[in-house]
Amino acid sequence: MPRVAYVNGRYESLADAAVNVEDRGYQFADGIYEVCLLVDGRFWDEDGHFDRMERSLSELSMSMPMSRPALKAVIAALLRKNRLKNALVYVQVTRGVAARNHAFPPDGTVPSIVITAKPYNLAANEALASRGVGVLTMSDQRWARVDIKTVSLLPNCLAKQAAREAGAFEAWLVRDGKVTEGASSNAWIVNGKGELITHPLGHEILGGITRQTAIRCAEEMQMKVVERAFTVAEAQRAHEAFITAATLLVMPVVSIDGRPVGSGKPGPVAQRLREAYLRRCSEIAGERPRAIA
Ligand SMILES: Cc1ncc(COP(=O)(O)O)c(C=O)c1O
Repeated sequence: MPRVAYVNGRYESLADAAVNVEDRGYQFADGIYEVCLLVDGRFWDEDGHFDRMERSLSELSMSMPMSRPALKAVIAALLRKNRLKNALVYVQVTRGVAARNHAFPPDGTVPSIVITAKPYNLAANEALASRGVGVLTMSDQRWARVDIKTVSLLPNCLAKQAAREAGAFEAWLVRDGKVTEGASSNAWIVNGKGELITHPLGHEILGGITRQTAIRCAEEMQMKVVERAFTVAEAQRAHEAFITAATLLVMPVVSIDGRPVGSGKPGPVAQRLREAYLRRCSEIAGERPRAIA
């Protein structure tokens, strides 16, 4: 399978693709990213991902490096060059290359843009969802603006690694006794009344695009969604739990800190929501973007 990346206007072999050592993304994590899923060449939650990308950039006083149609065309070309139809696309934009100084570089510094694509295996994701995953709770050590999707992910990496070393799939991050979110997903529980509970939007969580669509799906199915923080103890008493992310879709959580959640199997609410999410995304997926060479 060819592996091709897009780097600052050029399509290059992934093995050789590189950015300058003075790129501010490399030096300062001064940049943002997006990850979105394309199934059968069509974007899932397209507007949500592009809207969030614009918002993340604007929070860092940056603007889109190219128009949305141009970005979509580049992504389509990248998929074609990589011979992919089902893909996870990674887009990263940084403040560009400049002599290393903390303050912003001079006006006119050109942002760097890197886009990569890798195959997405929906069947493998389905298999994982049929078993469910375990999570491990730990202290949330991230900065105070995690609503911005910056490339500064060290605490997330450390948390995920600690979870994996303990045999769990995901870390659930806890601040002031409340679960904020996962290291790379949003966290949800379902209580005895059948209410779906997830941390409200704000500076303490990343506003997941899958979370947003899952809320819409749940409400369409007359499920009650309550956006409030929950404690670890509450999560351990929950009937069900699950996580959402573009890479995972709706993924049942079957254990928290080694203790089973509910029956210890994927719960019916998470399963129904997952099916609804899959149905919604495949029905209203964006048009296939037209590729440019
Ligand atoms: C910290 C964090 N929270 C939540 C999410 C889920 O966001 P989305 O549903 O947009 O993928 C992610 C995804 O990478 C994440 O990194």
